[in-house]
Amino acid sequence: MIVLVSLVMSEKKIITVDGPAGVGKSTISKMVAAATGFTYLDTGAMYRGVGFFLKQNRIDIDDEKDLAKQLATLDLQLVAAEDDKADVGVIINGKDVSTLIRSPEMSMVASQVSAFSIVRQKLTQLQREYGAQGNIVAEGRDMGTVVFPQAACKFFLDAQPEERARRRVEQLRIQGTKTDFDEILAMIVERDKNDSEREIAPLKKADDAFLIDTTRMSIPEVVKLILEKAAL
Ligand code: DC
Repeated sequence: MIVLVSLVMSEKKIITVDGPAGVGKSTISKMVAAATGFTYLDTGAMYRGVGFFLKQNRIDIDDEKDLAKQLATLDLQLVAAEDDKADVGVIINGKDVSTLIRSPEMSMVASQVSAFSIVRQKLTQLQREYGAQGNIVAEGRDMGTVVFPQAACKFFLDAQPEERARRRVEQLRIQGTKTDFDEILAMIVERDKNDSEREIAPLKKADDAFLIDTTRMSIPEVVKLILEKAAL
C-alpha cells in the first residue's frame, strides 16, 4: 500500500493548454496551476524573450549561421513574476525583461522568430527540461502536439477573433497601455496566420486534446471545466 501511494505521488503529470493569441491561455493556465499546486510554464514568454534578445542586439535573423552563433550566447530563465500584472518573470542574460516583452510590438516579433527552426529547437529543449520536473501546466501553441505529446491531459482553447481582440484590449488597458481595437484585431488575425501556417510546429489542436470554445464562457467556467476534465 505504501509503495502504491508513493508511486502515485511521484507521478509526473503534464497538462497542456494550447490555442491562438488572446484566447485567455495565460490567465486560465495560471489559475489551473494555482488550484493544483502545479508549476505554470509560459512558453510564449520564452519566444518573446528570444525576440527581444534578437531585436535588441540587431541580429539579422535571415543570416542563419549568425543566428545560431548569437543564440548560443543566450541564457534565458523563467522566474516567478514580481508583480501580479506580469504572467511570469523572464531573465535574458541576467537582465529582467518581464515587462518589456509584453508590448503588442513584441508579440509580433515573437511570432516572427518562432518560425525559425533553430529558435524552436533551443526552446523546445528548454521546455522539456522544465517539463521533466513534472507537475506543470504548459501553455503555448505546440505543447500538446510537439513538446509534450505524451502529456496526460491536453486542452485546446479557442474563441472568435473579435472576442479575443476585446479581451486583449482590456488586458492591456489594465496594464496601463491604451490601444485601438481594430489595430489589435488586425494583429491577432496576422499572428494567427503566422502561427498556424508556419512549417514547423504550427498552432494546431492535438488529436487527443479536448477543445473548449471560450467565446461565451467566463474564465472561472473554463478553469472549472479543465479541472474536472483533468480530474484534479
Ligand atoms: O502566447 P504568446 O502570445 O505570449 O506567444 C507569443 C508568440 O510566440 C506567438 O505568437 C507564437 C509564439 N509561440 C510559439 O510559436 N510556440 C509556443 N509554444 C508559444 C508561443
